[in-house]
Amino acid sequence: MNIGIDLISFYTPPFFLSLTDLAAQRKISAEKYTIGIGQDEMSILPPDEDVVTMGANAAQSLLDKVDKTQIKALIFATESGVDQSKSAGMFVHRLLGLSKECRVIEMKQACYSGTFSLHSAMGLISLQKNAKVLVINSDVARYDLNSPGEPTQGCGAVALIVSNNPRLLKVESESAYISEDVMDFWRPNYRSSAIVDGQYSTKIYLKALNECWKKYGELTKRLPEHVHHFCFHLPFTRMAEKALKQLFRCKEEFQSRFIKSSPGFRYNRVVGNSYTASLYLNLCSLLDCSAENLEGHRVGLFSYGSGFVAEFFSGVIQAGYGSHLLKDLHSRLISQRKKISYREYLEFYHYALPEQGEVFNVPHFTNGHFRFSGLDNHKRLYEKTVS
Ligand code: CAA
Repeated sequence: MNIGIDLISFYTPPFFLSLTDLAAQRKISAEKYTIGIGQDEMSILPPDEDVVTMGANAAQSLLDKVDKTQIKALIFATESGVDQSKSAGMFVHRLLGLSKECRVIEMKQACYSGTFSLHSAMGLISLQKNAKVLVINSDVARYDLNSPGEPTQGCGAVALIVSNNPRLLKVESESAYISEDVMDFWRPNYRSSAIVDGQYSTKIYLKALNECWKKYGELTKRLPEHVHHFCFHLPFTRMAEKALKQLFRCKEEFQSRFIKSSPGFRYNRVVGNSYTASLYLNLCSLLDCSAENLEGHRVGLFSYGSGFVAEFFSGVIQAGYGSHLLKDLHSRLISQRKKISYREYLEFYHYALPEQGEVFNVPHFTNGHFRFSGLDNHKRLYEKTVS
């Protein structure tokens, strides 16, 4: 079986808040965020964007490079869904002009569902070898103002084309996964921000990594040294340091691994948490930003979704991968974002939509290819802004 990630692209909206500015408002040292948590900036969602527009924007960049008619399924992973019944993927299916002969589904299990989507896509392709599957991971990390989780907010989407003979990463068949019902992080339907037992969630994450790694080691007989690069679900980049310290007990080995892995944290450090997309943003950053040639290197990927389901799996970077990356586009997306003030952050945070079904137009903020333009009779309206 030679199935895996053929192409990868991410999108994040064109606004960010500096965590140094947030720290000043919260009257705490900026180093707590930049060093203690390992985040410099967080992307901010404007009122005319949501998981649909972010997902469509991320996927759009890949569609010039594949035959759209070969996409036989669109799997949309999110925990920030816009409707209790209709899949966010249905809106994206139309916005991207995908074929009618393409299944669409939305997946949910906190930050983990993107990984299940990837493996489901591989299963579909093993049954239909010329098919391609579009997996979209799209989320908005939102906590209460002035809560410990606030500096770990963010938003973004990562789109993957999964296929046979992938151009970027062949996913290996051995995979170690575990599930356990715990309440470390959750969001009841009546809330727009998540509730989290932060310190406990961090402990559970590391416990899950430990158990998954142990199982993966038993399955593959590999030691951490046999994996060239590690990518993690990154709620904040300091988490990677904690994870690597657990995998590499020797201080020198840990330090050299941390330096080697750092290009992979670059995007997450400025985008913030993007839940389902976070692990794949780490992978995208590693592929785009590593100065080293990664051909033939094994990447270990740790996926964690609170509640919790966790999985450790691996893949091998393919020869010639470098010519299929979208690094210039990604670097422009980040560098061209507009820094917003604390006041603008509060305005976006508190922006509320009417709930009575009246016609409502959302003002234009984003410069993305797609936007959420308003509501009519409880229906969400989307438009393409650039052809
Ligand atoms: N300079 C440098 N470091 C500083 C500092 C300073 N001036 N002040 C504090 N620090 C350090 C602290 O020593 C601490 O370091 P250690 O982790 O090594 O102990 C670090 O900064 C954080 O400080 P606190 O522990 O006091 O931070 P906190 O309690 O205010 O919040 C948090 C930290 C619990 C992660 C919080 O941000 C949070 O709740 N985040 C959301 C939940 C989360 O992301 N959990 C992760 C696992 S769950 C998951 O992965 C799913 C998901 O996506 C949510």
